[in-house]
Amino acid sequence: MRSHYCGQLNETLVDQQVTLCGWVHRRRDHGGVIFLDMRDRDGIAQVVVDPDTAEAFATADRARNEFVLRIQGRIRMRPEGTQNPNMPTGLIEVLAKDVEVLNTAATPPFQLDEHGKVGEEVRLKYRYIDLRRPEMIDKLRLRSRISHHVRAYLEGQGFLDIETPILTRATPEGARDYLVPSRTHPGSFFALPQSPQLFKQLLMVSGFDRYYQIAKCFRDEDLRADRQPEFTQIDLEASFVNENDIMAITESMVRGLFKEVLEVELPEFSRMPYSEAMSRFGSDKPDLRIPLELTDVDDLMKDVDFKVFSGPANAKDGRVAALKVIGGAKLSRKEIDDYTKFVGIYGAKGLAWIKVNERAKGLEGLQSPIVKFMEGIIETLLDRVDAQDGDIIFFGADKTRVVNEALGALRVRLGEDLELYTQAWAPLWVVDFPMFEADDKGRLSALHHPFTAPSCTPDELKADPASALSRAYDMVLNGTELGGGSIRIHDQGMQRVVFEVLGIGQEEAEEKFGFLLDALKYGAPPHGGLAFGLDRLVMLMTGAKTIREVIAFPKTQSAADLMTDAPGEVSAEQLKDLSIRLRQKAKVDPTAE
Ligand code: AMO
Ligand code: AMP
Repeated sequence: MRSHYCGQLNETLVDQQVTLCGWVHRRRDHGGVIFLDMRDRDGIAQVVVDPDTAEAFATADRARNEFVLRIQGRIRMRPEGTQNPNMPTGLIEVLAKDVEVLNTAATPPFQLDEHGKVGEEVRLKYRYIDLRRPEMIDKLRLRSRISHHVRAYLEGQGFLDIETPILTRATPEGARDYLVPSRTHPGSFFALPQSPQLFKQLLMVSGFDRYYQIAKCFRDEDLRADRQPEFTQIDLEASFVNENDIMAITESMVRGLFKEVLEVELPEFSRMPYSEAMSRFGSDKPDLRIPLELTDVDDLMKDVDFKVFSGPANAKDGRVAALKVIGGAKLSRKEIDDYTKFVGIYGAKGLAWIKVNERAKGLEGLQSPIVKFMEGIIETLLDRVDAQDGDIIFFGADKTRVVNEALGALRVRLGEDLELYTQAWAPLWVVDFPMFEADDKGRLSALHHPFTAPSCTPDELKADPASALSRAYDMVLNGTELGGGSIRIHDQGMQRVVFEVLGIGQEEAEEKFGFLLDALKYGAPPHGGLAFGLDRLVMLMTGAKTIREVIAFPKTQSAADLMTDAPGEVSAEQLKDLSIRLRQKAKVDPTAE
């Protein structure tokens, strides 16, 4: 039907006859001449319809925005003075000979260039219209290029693309499962995979050596800007490898991807132990574009006459940390109050601060609600954070977890607000994660997942599980966890010990993971792997603010699809087939308790 995409037209095609198919982006009537901006997935081209071609003119006259047209005509240079060098097709136009309406269109719920005026809900309800916007098309096109590059790279490295089941058993990645009732086994449920983790390990036991998959994963968890209930992983696993092998393969993949797709040469990937990341940045995914660091001041605060500080400074699980911001003394009272509210979201009970106006003047030169308690230690404190005139120092004092989360988030927020970024891209590997984390009641859970190999022997693990480190690694880019993986346990005995430490009894382990424990008996090779969040990778590479922007049909924050109205009620008959009786009738709002 067409000879060219609209966006492909340029001055090298002058005088050629072309046939375009697309949508009317804009129609303008200029004193007897009609201009149609025709749009398709490649771009926009200007079409001129002259009254001399009476039939074409009459058709163009009744065309409206978003009508679907087929246009035949000749390419010519735009007259001097009407050229638009900012537009790829801005030097030429198509003089129409024939205009055919392939379909009409009702007035769309929003004009494409006015999408900002409607809420995201309207955009999601009419996603097929939202996706007509060139910015959206560009993002999905880049996504396609990224998966193409990834596949080509991994195939080149000998990885085989193997599909794993969607209807399966629970795979513990730490989120709630999406369940699917079985009709043929009344009362039993499939779980949708939170990741292909166990299957890829079993493929290693089978001897496939190198596996990859661009895999859909499902997790029923609290959603944020970089989390969706249904998302895509670039998932891979290899045998007879150690952590350096996996890190080298995946680092080179990401490096090549940035080079090829964005023409960006990524800087060196540093490696940072988890403990260092937490203590210097309060986060296991530090944004290293921001030159701010947390400094421990517990030792200085042990004896100060300010309980808020001396309490945590003397507590085993407490922390008092300082965050110095160069030039931050210019922050207003209102801005400081806003930051105090902000850290409150993370559980901080306040945000103490010291403004360093003129250090040479001693206490006189400082401005602060807490400096009166710091008299004996102030010089040591200022030296420790290397405070200069014009700086502000913020403080967090609480349980270590609260201080890290609050000051870690404040650090990122200040970096953004004060535009402190020192570089465009800051990748790193975070390594030496603890095997387990304890909840408030001291119960241990796997920090990564329970198939991650510890860096110690089974006996050492049993003796002191809380301090054991794992052979896990995360790739972090600009403060986002792009991917994570580990070397796995390939020894049945070690796997049993890990289940034991996690409080998963023998019987439960058999019931849930018997197939894995069995498989480990039959010659499992040493193996390891990693999974990237493809959506997050595309989000970073396109500069999108949320992963919803790079997913064609995403779900809302409350895990609903506004376009298809899913999840939806089902008929009584379907429920009967599934042997399900509802305890309460479905509510319209899926977020309602
Ligand atoms: P993990 O749980 O760390 O590891 O997930 C790997 C990567 O997937 C992305 N991701 C998400 N993206 C969007 N929405 C979500 N809800 C979401 N959850 C995770 C992140 C994350 O880094 N089986 C292991 C991998 C392995 O050990 O090989 C796993 O799934 O970018
Ligand atoms: P107060 O004595 O409660 O008025 O607090 C004095 C200063 O300490 C105020 O600036 C508070 O914001 C701050 N503050 C209170 N609790 C904490 C805390 N847990 N961590 C850091 N600063 C705090």
